[in-house]
Amino acid sequence: MILVTGGAGYIGSHTVAELLRTGVPESDIIIADNLSTGHKESVLGGKLCVGDLRDSEFVSKLFKENDIDSVIHFAAFSQVGESVVNPLKYYENNVQLSINLVRHMVDAGVKKLVFSSTAAVYGEPKNIPINETDPCIPTNPYGQTKLAVEGLLKWADNAYGLKYIALRYFNAAGALESGEIGERHDPETHLIPIVLQAANGERDCIKVFGTDYPTPDGTCVRDYIHVTDLASSHIAALKRLKDIGESGIYNLGNGAGFSVKQVIDVCRQVTNRDIPVELAERRAGDPATLVASNQKAMAELNLKFRYASLESIIQTAWNFHGN
Ligand code: UFG
Repeated sequence: MILVTGGAGYIGSHTVAELLRTGVPESDIIIADNLSTGHKESVLGGKLCVGDLRDSEFVSKLFKENDIDSVIHFAAFSQVGESVVNPLKYYENNVQLSINLVRHMVDAGVKKLVFSSTAAVYGEPKNIPINETDPCIPTNPYGQTKLAVEGLLKWADNAYGLKYIALRYFNAAGALESGEIGERHDPETHLIPIVLQAANGERDCIKVFGTDYPTPDGTCVRDYIHVTDLASSHIAALKRLKDIGESGIYNLGNGAGFSVKQVIDVCRQVTNRDIPVELAERRAGDPATLVASNQKAMAELNLKFRYASLESIIQTAWNFHGN
């Protein structure tokens, strides 16, 4: 069985959907989520166990009562801004629950883990595109807690032979093609859902945070990757752990950068709606440009992304947000 922690969240629920689509039986998928930010309705199959992964008894029972052989670990708080204001919340949750999870994996002899990491581990990059070997100097507690867990995994491999693949995502975007599930954070802080909420009338406008960055049009550049492509990358990582059994760290991005203004323009094309824009001050802590070098992931995980264009990514998000 595969244990998916945080499987009711945005990327976790799309990964469960992709596991099901690729033929993994429901009886082989177990989802652990405390539903603090995830949604029960987003879990499209498998067995959902509601509980807190910091709770030793809960995790011990998960491993005792289910024949788990691998783990895909998403469960974490993920708001950069909140992590700066409340670092304890992030350390207490993201790091503690990962320690507890790894402890019980070691005790149960489960030796395969795919970890949801982030481009935020790099901080302000020196080189674009960013390589996995570039320095990791996070500029916020969120990125620092993810890097701390990567460190734990490295040493757990060394001491206990736990094999892991850490996937450093750039900007996850889009929704299931059917529009059945999608990105639903509360509060929403991410660009594409906010722009689409401005398109569907849920918001008055989109505020562009900063227009004086050293980028072609002055707005921040990001590398957007479809959530289903992220999801299938986790499955590919699990396959590599099974077939080759080697730990590793991989960037997950499309390798192409789009500015905030370009994203808004594509949203206008896709939705055919007028999207009012307000130019605003920079948001603290935003690097000017984040673009992945994805060569290592493409080659070693054998990835083929389904959503190469920003239009196709935004179209699926609009299938979810549009009305
Ligand atoms: N932006 C706006 N207006 C908004 C929201 C966002 O202009 O209302 C801009 C941001 O300033 C940024 C870009 O849109 O330049 C993308 O912002 P997001 O919040 O969508 O995404 P981030 O790049 O800040 O964050 C993403 C992930 C984080 C991860 C981070 C790594 O969501 O989990 O990349 O730096 F930590």
